[in-house]
Amino acid sequence: MKVGICGLGTVGGGTFNVLKRNAEEIARRAGRGIEVAQIATRHPNSKCDTGSTPITADIFDLVNNPEIDIVVELIGGYTVAKELVLKAIENGKHVVTANKALIAVHGNEIFAKAREKGVIVAFEASVAGGIPVIKAIREGLAGNRINWLAGIINGTGNFILTEMREKGRTFEDVLKEAQELGYAEADPTFDVEGIDAAHKLTILASIAFGIPLQFDKAYTEGIARLTTADVNYAEALGYRIKHLGVARRTEAGIELRVHPTLIPADRLIANVNGVMNAVMVNGDAVGSTLYYGAGAGMEPTASAVVADVVDVTRALTTDPNNRVPHLAFQPDSLSDHPILPITACESAYYLRIQAKDHPGVLAQVATILSERGINIESIMQKEAEVQDGLVPVILVTHRVVEQRIDDAIAALERLDDVVDKVVRIRVEQLN
Ligand code: HSE
Repeated sequence: MKVGICGLGTVGGGTFNVLKRNAEEIARRAGRGIEVAQIATRHPNSKCDTGSTPITADIFDLVNNPEIDIVVELIGGYTVAKELVLKAIENGKHVVTANKALIAVHGNEIFAKAREKGVIVAFEASVAGGIPVIKAIREGLAGNRINWLAGIINGTGNFILTEMREKGRTFEDVLKEAQELGYAEADPTFDVEGIDAAHKLTILASIAFGIPLQFDKAYTEGIARLTTADVNYAEALGYRIKHLGVARRTEAGIELRVHPTLIPADRLIANVNGVMNAVMVNGDAVGSTLYYGAGAGMEPTASAVVADVVDVTRALTTDPNNRVPHLAFQPDSLSDHPILPITACESAYYLRIQAKDHPGVLAQVATILSERGINIESIMQKEAEVQDGLVPVILVTHRVVEQRIDDAIAALERLDDVVDKVVRIRVEQLN
């Protein structure tokens, strides 16, 4: 089996090294040897000894090379990568990619072309690095009706939150280290603003619920505005703040949202730290399951790429119409259940209200919430923290539709006794 690797960066370099180092074990699994027949890169990777492997600077050289059976796309981005993948498909080649942006945004078109040509486009490495979560949902949970999934699916963001919380390091300092370690996207705002996580969540939701990829409908909120004060109050209330992607099926539609989230501190997923990722998937038959592992990095991501290369190798002689469908469900059986706008999503909420320390302030806050049918689960106000006559009132609500919390926050901010914007962070119990 002849493989061409496009891009010899962090993941490309890792893929080359793993294919070479584990060649014998891989051949025993695949039933034949897998050889890197060509690499397309403009920059050598000092961590790879490419030896006599032919190298070209032109990715289209590789895609048009008749010797290559599988094109491994590891250049990233939406534009050239899309052209490259479509050309590979047109040339009858199978494709393995780690490119979540490409799949989330152009996957519907790419899979349609792949079906026409009878080739496989495999993308395990696009979500949660080395964790085989796509295979788990698509194949291992195929008997279930999936109710919801929730995951820490950006290694860089989780690394930043962990280092800030545990070591008091600054946001910028940790981000720089994540970039040096090859975890971060070329544009790191994709990591911290939740765009990368939304790409991955879009893919997970499609294979969990059997819906087309709809990245444009995902709601994203980043971690850059989180404060140490909220991290500490959350801890005092028994929660951890994680950057979570949540996809939930409701009767009205599907929730698809990425945002900072309070999770009870005793949940396993609340204790997933550093670059590690974890995805919880709840199915009607299996109940809740949890998948954990490195979410980014050279060899963890290569592990998923190589597994796809082995899968493609094994499936070469199978009937293209009877392979595992790209999005887990047969393409003519995808559902048009709508994606809900964030205002129609339901969650519990942490609110921090900066109030003047007057008699009756709490009563006004409680009235505004109760008038909108919002039930308070817990409330905290620390006298010791009164400063300049202001006191933070922290409360956690029961679950409610977001529109009602928006209305309540607007009313709270109109109170004379409330100063500053009300801080709102969603809360998920995940039980
Ligand atoms: N930038 C991504 C992350 C890489 O940090 O999770 C893996 O997809």
